[in-house]
Amino acid sequence: MELPRRAAVVAALSVLILSSCYCYYQYRSVNLPWKKKKKTQSPKNGLLECIGDTPLIRIDSLSNATGCEILAKAEFLNPGGSVKDRVARKIIEEALDSGDLVRGGIVIEGSAGSTAISLATVAPAYGCKCHVVIPDDVAIEKITSYILSCDTVQSQILEALGATVERVRPVSITHRDHFVNVARRRALEATKIASEQRETHKSEADINENGHTFQKVDHQVFTTDCKGGFFADQFENLANFQAHYEWTGPEIWEQTGGYLHAFIAAAGTGGTLAGVSRFLQEKNPNVKCFLIDPPGSGLFNKVTRGVMYTKEEAEGRRLKNPFDTITEGIGINRLTKNFMMAKLDGAYRGTDLEAVEMSRFLLRNDGLFVGSSSAMNCVGAVRVAQTLGPGHTIVTILCDSGMRHLSKFYNSQYLVDLGLTPSAKGLEFLVPA
Ligand SMILES: Cc1ncc(COP(=O)(O)O)c(C=O)c1O
Repeated sequence: MELPRRAAVVAALSVLILSSCYCYYQYRSVNLPWKKKKKTQSPKNGLLECIGDTPLIRIDSLSNATGCEILAKAEFLNPGGSVKDRVARKIIEEALDSGDLVRGGIVIEGSAGSTAISLATVAPAYGCKCHVVIPDDVAIEKITSYILSCDTVQSQILEALGATVERVRPVSITHRDHFVNVARRRALEATKIASEQRETHKSEADINENGHTFQKVDHQVFTTDCKGGFFADQFENLANFQAHYEWTGPEIWEQTGGYLHAFIAAAGTGGTLAGVSRFLQEKNPNVKCFLIDPPGSGLFNKVTRGVMYTKEEAEGRRLKNPFDTITEGIGINRLTKNFMMAKLDGAYRGTDLEAVEMSRFLLRNDGLFVGSSSAMNCVGAVRVAQTLGPGHTIVTILCDSGMRHLSKFYNSQYLVDLGLTPSAKGLEFLVPA
């Protein structure tokens, strides 16, 4: 082929290749699953059907700043206001299926956090009641009124939802009267009362005849008409992990069309991180999954070095110091069954100031009013973007809204007192490592 003809062919081929690349890029950016318009939804059948199927939001500010697609699952839009609605639903359904809980029974949890609120929200939809045991942090309340107001608000929400709230003194998790252990005991007591009642109804004469009586429970919190109790046990109950493995993970996969490179979240019980990471990595082992860990938590060390504590902080002995971090619901100093199901490629640490700065950045730039753990998750998403570089798709979770965090995380005086007043104009507070 003579030279001018060959040059013309090469030029034509180059134009063809370039224009196909351009068309593909245009097609992809318009047809990325999270950019497609959704059809109008048909009516939902009751509250329970409104849980899940939350939007996956492209966070424009973070995506534009990092050159990555940063997507966040808007779990704060669940009816109970957090990602824990899924867990509450799964825990109750499994317990009803197994017969450990009956309709009319009491779901019992030891926590004043989002899980308790979600349990209290969904329990009536199953014809059940909810009882919550929380630590009565009087010593802490004396130190700062913020904690008091925060706990009071949570208790008020729980009681408004129809749950009963029991306050116990704060002790280590190894103590029998730790609020989680009290909650476990209450479930046994409620079940005992129910079986006592059944026996009484069965045949009072029978009882008199053979002299058989049940020992009365020492601390009767429940009325004699109770139908039994079930300890939700969000930390160790694998229904928590399962909710995210069967539900949140598949939704993320579907909403991204499987086009994602990384997932990151902080862990409280570890259920979200474990369920989603395991599901995504089974779908595609190349999806990298990471933990973002707040101050005071041992999980970063566990993931990166295999040990949670120094020798002096033997497992179970350490009382998590409530002043370690201002983020709520995340960070823990023991390994839970749920966390152990996670499939992780690494971990990052986040600071309180980064979380506070991130929350204000999201509010200013995207109108997203999110809670402290969601802000920490977004800190993590940017960290992953900085590590992987532009062109990657990173997913995280917006666990709850800022509404639950008015007395601390969104209280300027509280932040001034802790030296955490936000001052950043952009994302300069997240200097690449
Ligand atoms: C507000 C909030 N965010 C995040 C988490 C952490 O989620 P997980 O328990 O699935 O690790 C929790 C846990 O209670 C929470 O309450």
